[in-house]
Amino acid sequence: MQGHRDLREVITSVPASDGAGVRLRRSLGGPTGQRVDPFLMLDEFFSDDPNDYLAGFPSHPHRGFETVTYMLDGRMRHEDSCGNRGDLGPGDVQWMTAARGIIHSEMPQQTAGRMRGFQLWLNLPASAKMQPAAYRDIPASDIPEYSLSAGCQMRLIAGALSIEGKVLRGATLGQPSTAPLFADLRLLPGATIELPIARELSAFVYPYDGAVELLGSDGAPRSLPLQGAAVLDDGDRLALRASHGAARLLLLAGRALNEPVVQYGPFVMNTRAEIEQAVDDYRNGRLVEPARSSSG
Ligand code: CO
Repeated sequence: MQGHRDLREVITSVPASDGAGVRLRRSLGGPTGQRVDPFLMLDEFFSDDPNDYLAGFPSHPHRGFETVTYMLDGRMRHEDSCGNRGDLGPGDVQWMTAARGIIHSEMPQQTAGRMRGFQLWLNLPASAKMQPAAYRDIPASDIPEYSLSAGCQMRLIAGALSIEGKVLRGATLGQPSTAPLFADLRLLPGATIELPIARELSAFVYPYDGAVELLGSDGAPRSLPLQGAAVLDDGDRLALRASHGAARLLLLAGRALNEPVVQYGPFVMNTRAEIEQAVDDYRNGRLVEPARSSSG
């Protein structure tokens, strides 16, 4: 369908606790089970109280998908079974392709102050779920920031957008199978933004500061929920406005995989048998790729 994307549904975020007791808000992947193929889960962690985040996410496994962590405030340290170590600070992104398996920890590096950020789970196609794990740190300085229409700034973490004949590129292109677009948008009071979003992509926005309106196919403004995922209908353009005050929001789009999703905690596969295999592999120390032995 041509034209502006309308609001299809809202996935409200609900309070949740994960890791060793980190308090967060979960929209996609929450208790209702709603997702936006290829996106499996979206968590927002946001607190000024260290008791909400100090426990962190000690050592835990993943298989079958990618985790993308985007920090706004605070510091987190990542360490994993492949020997990677990364310090995430404000504006940094960590892109981890768990694929066949990784065991990692994500621990706060502060005992006071604000911790705010997001973790997104992005699915992998069946053909990539058992590939070797990969990991990439994307420092804030490597994420391009673009000035769009008056009063609109965009940090483009992943994907590319073609605007008036100019191609704007993000810090990564991600997997071609899901072609993820991940942008952090900042709108000044009253600013309007219009972006082309390829019609074959599923898309949603997640306003996290201020008040945002969606300008749909009839041009009428529609208020979007704060800290909720607004899932968009088909169309090839997206128009938004900061209705009063400045606003900030995430924009996510990607190509749906249209494959069966079977999830058991941190494992996301296509069949029940593959989940049982993942659990068995984890219990028996076979989840992660065997380290190459130098002595035969
Ligand atoms: Co994790």
